[in-house]
Amino acid sequence: MTENVSRRTFLKISGIGAAAGAVGPLTHAEAATPAAPDTSRTLLPYPRRTVGSVGKMAVNQAVPFSYPDAASPCAAIKMGTPVPGGVGPDKDIVAYSTQCTHMGCPVTYDQATRTFKCPCHFSMFDAEKSGQMICGQATENLPRVQLAYDAQTGSISAVGVEGLIYGRQANIL
Ligand code: FES
Repeated sequence: MTENVSRRTFLKISGIGAAAGAVGPLTHAEAATPAAPDTSRTLLPYPRRTVGSVGKMAVNQAVPFSYPDAASPCAAIKMGTPVPGGVGPDKDIVAYSTQCTHMGCPVTYDQATRTFKCPCHFSMFDAEKSGQMICGQATENLPRVQLAYDAQTGSISAVGVEGLIYGRQANIL
């Protein structure tokens, strides 16, 4: 195509090309129905970030950190007994986003009930059961931060997030 092709001619040619493509036989890949996008996951890699050291974590004390970026507050807790998804030598260390899944208010860890509580509309999330929503206005569990344990150094690192962090279309921005 030369630079002298008029806009009308170009659109005509493009339209013909598109129409020809549309009536041609579909390949196997084109014939497959596309799956609905999963907005709770991202194709971009999660960073690996050190959260703390097993030896320095007190039982039932929230350790604040940010993950996967500075705008996403989280907390890690050594529960003291093995819990689902727990890592470390006792399989008891878990971590969650501390932004409420209802409207993003900061949730705080309550040692007595071992839950995260939201002061805005009183949602509660179970720290011992993968951040499960217990009651309140929220309808989603707290996003769980995936942790990795290095037995040689004793360090705990954040390596991913299960569930969509409040206010985001993808966890990695
Ligand atoms: S923002 Fe937490 S319950 Fe509404």
